[in-house]
Amino acid sequence: IYGPKRRNSRGVNLNIRSHFYPLMEKMGTFMDKQYLAKPLLAFDVADDADNTHPVTSPFDRRKTVGSVQWTSKEQAAKALDAAWQAFPRWETTPVSERADILRRLADLMEEHMPELMTLCSREGGKLLTDGVDEIKEAVDFCRYYAMRAEEAFGQPIELPGPTGESNRLMMGGKGVFAAISPWNFPVAIFCGQIVAAAVAGNTVLAKPAEQTSIVAHRVIELLYEAGMPRDVVQLLPGDGPTVGSVLTSDPRITGVVFTGGTDTAQIINRALAARENAPLPTLIAETGGMNAMIVDSTALPEQVVVDVIQSAFQSAGQRCSALRVLYLQDDVADRVIEILKGAMNELRIGDPRDLGTDVGPVIDEDARKGLMAHIEKLKGENRLVAETPMAAEHTQNGTFVAPAAFIIDSIDALTREQFGPILHIVRYKARELDRVINDINGRGYGLTFGVHSRNESFAAEIAQKMRVGNVYINRNIIGAVVGVQPFGGQGLSGTGPKAGGPHYLQRFVTEKTITNNT
Ligand code: SER
Repeated sequence: IYGPKRRNSRGVNLNIRSHFYPLMEKMGTFMDKQYLAKPLLAFDVADDADNTHPVTSPFDRRKTVGSVQWTSKEQAAKALDAAWQAFPRWETTPVSERADILRRLADLMEEHMPELMTLCSREGGKLLTDGVDEIKEAVDFCRYYAMRAEEAFGQPIELPGPTGESNRLMMGGKGVFAAISPWNFPVAIFCGQIVAAAVAGNTVLAKPAEQTSIVAHRVIELLYEAGMPRDVVQLLPGDGPTVGSVLTSDPRITGVVFTGGTDTAQIINRALAARENAPLPTLIAETGGMNAMIVDSTALPEQVVVDVIQSAFQSAGQRCSALRVLYLQDDVADRVIEILKGAMNELRIGDPRDLGTDVGPVIDEDARKGLMAHIEKLKGENRLVAETPMAAEHTQNGTFVAPAAFIIDSIDALTREQFGPILHIVRYKARELDRVINDINGRGYGLTFGVHSRNESFAAEIAQKMRVGNVYINRNIIGAVVGVQPFGGQGLSGTGPKAGGPHYLQRFVTEKTITNNT
């Protein structure tokens, strides 16, 4: 089932060996290099050893990647001054110039693929295959948003009308945006947020996830090399309470683009709303999911299992799109579970830089502990269906969690998103389908959803009823492609608009109507 011929997250068959050797040959020098990531601000930042933190690899905590100097509150405030001052100049920079910087960054990221994918692996624990996909996605974001910005904002929209005056609709930046990004896509989402805000005419203060600041730092260095002025995009590595609080409390922040947990999005929303004399803020949030898949009795069990394995366990389940709850119709459940057990038994857990590895580590010890507590609870209730064997010699020094599948009664049994390689299975009878749909929709999240069925009208009907952002029929539910499968959810899963979609940039601009009677 999960043998040598497998598909990457884009659904394309991939011959891993021939694809990777040229890249791997160039990774060598970046395997042991020690990095120092300091804040990249409009002004020089002095060394501050007391505020510098070591970064270790999730797959082996004895190995260091380097260290990160966190941004102080004073530096964050000064960076905000610089971003505020740079805005009028940047806003009036022609869109084509702004877009060209994005295109140059795309070229540079392709050129530096071996270094960036090595860092994704060393710092973020990503498989090399995931690292390549991730950097390609960041490249796609740059080229797609560059194209969309030129199309949408290159010229004012002339509005014909009965007034006898000339009427034009102009699009410009909103001001200073804070971009707060997650560790699970430390290049793609990090870069996508920043380039979208900047190409739309905003200046940007970017706070990368604490766990993945080194690769973020490398991307911003490349962005400067591509021509981005240092006061237009600044990098503020650091912790939430210090940097995040400056970014959400100052009235000069006009917008926040955030990807991460639903709880954090709500905290940001409250902080923005509590500011006095501040503009009504724009919050663009892509948050958690409780993503489900419904499999009916006509589905092909083998295909279901391939797609479930990818959806639930690729990237160690650390994707917001990942499958959390698999609904199996009774008639097909035993067969699917039997094949799933066999496939899970074959997965290899280990060093993400080894091409034979299927499942790498989770991001850190806090994540591992939280997932293990959930696993132990469900094991205590005798709900375990399958668990991938984990060899101690490959995993004892890292933060690994073995893929596990459990039977539960309903999605309502899950109180919070489990962001890791844990699959929950619910069996249902055909007559219970309406209740199943209500349960999934009623949970309040709405990111990805899958349906497996050979009955086309059934699949289409379910797709229509689900209140989610992305529906996938007869395939896996991860790996949305920029410009093709705009990505993002609704309800507890986010505010929209969808990243990589035609309307994303519109949320980053203000519109001004100019009526001229001369
Ligand atoms: N965009 C990613 C995917 O589709 C998830 O964050 O898998």
